[in-house]
Amino acid sequence: MQLHDYTAANRRAWNQAAPVHAQHNFDSLRANFARPGYACLDAIATDILRGIGVAGKSVAQLCCNNGRELLSIKNLGAARCVGFDIADDFIAQARALASAGKIECEFVAGDVYDIPRAYAAQFDLVFISIGALGWLPNIEKFFEIVASLLRADGTLFIYEQHPITVMFDEADKSDLPPRLHYSYFLDAPFADDGGLDYYGGTRYESLIKYWFHHKLSDIVQAILDQGLTLKAFREYPHDISNLFAHVEKMEIKLPLCYTLIAQKESTVTE
Ligand SMILES: C[S@@+](CC[C@H](N)C(=O)[O-])C[C@H]1O[C@@H](n2cnc3c(N)ncnc32)[C@H](O)[C@@H]1O
Repeated sequence: MQLHDYTAANRRAWNQAAPVHAQHNFDSLRANFARPGYACLDAIATDILRGIGVAGKSVAQLCCNNGRELLSIKNLGAARCVGFDIADDFIAQARALASAGKIECEFVAGDVYDIPRAYAAQFDLVFISIGALGWLPNIEKFFEIVASLLRADGTLFIYEQHPITVMFDEADKSDLPPRLHYSYFLDAPFADDGGLDYYGGTRYESLIKYWFHHKLSDIVQAILDQGLTLKAFREYPHDISNLFAHVEKMEIKLPLCYTLIAQKESTVTE
């Protein structure tokens, strides 16, 4: 299969998941965003965004899903905000949440690998958050796109699930410490039809979706290969995925998520 075959399959699976997620969170998100200034981001993301100086900055979020995070960033004072996601049905939810809160955010439906050239060098900040990187078959190409979206001096901020969690089976919550099911060095895509209900925790027979494991070193190297400078990198023991809350409770702590900040230096040509 080629890159676009994988992303097209994932688009179908994510569109199928949109009404499933909406059952769990859409009404409450709509009510929350109707309140001026509402933000759903946790303290770690909020502090980092404030530290970057998000107010007044133009921000892109790749794989923005229903827009809840980008709308929150806008409510922290960002200037132009553009969210990109392949699933039209999640983009429709994002637009509905924006309109419920009268929040000015642009949401673009499409594959991140096909973001139009018109967006090149338009952003001070590119934000990538929980559950995005694993859907991307080619991580090197993805960070090339990230770098192209950034202005000189622009910042990349990632707040993601730790790749070590690939070793556990998210459906197997019986053992603690979690049993190791998969190699950290696995490089074949995961294909499964167990659904995407990480809000309700149910499994449903879904269209096939493809998930790609990228080692932490693959991610960092792909960022460095774009000439971006690593500014900060931290690992944390809390679960941001809704999948490993049981692991978070263990006394012996594992890294479950990380934050990474990198910068496009002004000497890098756009
Ligand atoms: C787990 S969700 C992101 C959730 C988001 N961080 C949040 O917490 O609300 C992953 C998103 O990536 C999107 N996605 C997957 N592959 C994509 C691609 N090739 N281009 C754009 N979006 C993609 C999916 O449609 C989905 O909405």
